[in-house]
Amino acid sequence: MGVRTFLGGCVITAAAVAGCYTGDDVTSTMTGRESAAPATRVEGTLPSAFSGLPCDVAQVLATRCAGCHGPTPSGGAPNAMMTYDQLTSASSSVPSSSIAELSVARMQDAKNPMPPDGTTAEDLAVIQKWVAAGMPSGDVACDATPASSIYDTDSVCTSAKQWTHGDRGSSLMRPGGACNQCHDQGQGPSYSAAGTVYATAHEPDDCNGSSSAALKVVITGADGVSQSATVNAAGNFFFGSAIKMPYKAKVVSGSKSRAMSGAQTDGDCNKCHTESGLKSKKTPGRVMAP
Ligand code: HEC
Ligand code: HEC
Ligand code: HEC
Repeated sequence: MGVRTFLGGCVITAAAVAGCYTGDDVTSTMTGRESAAPATRVEGTLPSAFSGLPCDVAQVLATRCAGCHGPTPSGGAPNAMMTYDQLTSASSSVPSSSIAELSVARMQDAKNPMPPDGTTAEDLAVIQKWVAAGMPSGDVACDATPASSIYDTDSVCTSAKQWTHGDRGSSLMRPGGACNQCHDQGQGPSYSAAGTVYATAHEPDDCNGSSSAALKVVITGADGVSQSATVNAAGNFFFGSAIKMPYKAKVVSGSKSRAMSGAQTDGDCNKCHTESGLKSKKTPGRVMAP
């Protein structure tokens, strides 16, 4: 009947065919079959957690957005993006746009992209096409399982290595601690930015972070000047040269990256990126490797 299925996991239920939008074949589904038999689900599939959305849209949201824009938003994201109503409602920051329209804009916003470390042309095309088509709803049951939030983990010391030398000055000292909170009081060298990269979102103070030689922290100042620092054996990193505030930061490993979407004016990363995250600053947890 010309209805397209997606990723083999999408099932068109008979009752849902009328008016359901499944991507390319919009018109072929508009065949007025409302009176058809009750919905039956083909085995091996899940009902979509993304109610009312076309399957291809749900797939992008599930894999690329739900890690932060899930049922309980995390990672500093202000809103859930799971249901048709949520996608079509007005943004609170740009009330003239729906969340879906704003998504299309943010996915193409070079300075302020969504997801914060950038998207693919393929994912953008799916959302863009749906918005251009007037955001038709879809009632297709499909296998779109939301990515779980990476911040929803227990506290662990992944490296299983502790700093045990107290305040003895060393570049490996006090991983996880707010470096400049001590250093700016005349103890130790002053850094424009410093902190620790960890493997997971919640790790205790004095636990060594990720020591992979491939890990780099890249900071871009308000003047557009980028500088990078590698992490050391404790996962610590620090920058000596001045940074024009406010700055943006990301952690890079090969072709992967994890970016802070907001800009900050304080270079003491671990001050906000504590074990549980600084609630007053809406920080999710540790600075994490991508
Ligand atoms: C790693 C976490 C993360 C992921 C993944 C992510 N976002 Fe976000 N998103 C945020 C944060 C943090 C904000 C708030 C800061 C900002 O607007 O930059 C935000 C804000 C937004 C906003 C603005 C909402 C408003 O009303 O102002 C839109 C739209 C958005 N995201 C769309 C998306 C889309 C679409 C995806 C997936 C393709 C996505 N995001 C993936 C973290 C994330
Ligand atoms: C609890 C306070 C405190 C914290 C937190 C702290 N430091 Fe220090 N740091 C000091 C003190 C005190 C010295 C000077 C010690 C000395 O003269 O022996 C120092 C010295 C240093 C030195 C100079 C070592 C040398 O050989 O002269 C480096 C590098 C350093 N710290 C890096 C860091 C980094 C990176 C962090 C954050 C991950 C950090 N520190 C967190 C107190 C702290
Ligand atoms: C004043 C508090 C604050 C400071 C200081 C700060 N951050 Fe953040 N950071 C946040 C908040 C809030 C978020 C979540 C929203 C966002 O992405 O902007 C975040 C998110 C991030 C993320 C993305 C999180 C993820 O899991 O995708 C990275 C990477 C990051 N910060 C790195 C850094 C680095 C590196 C520094 C120091 C150079 C730093 N931050 C300093 C508040 C802070």
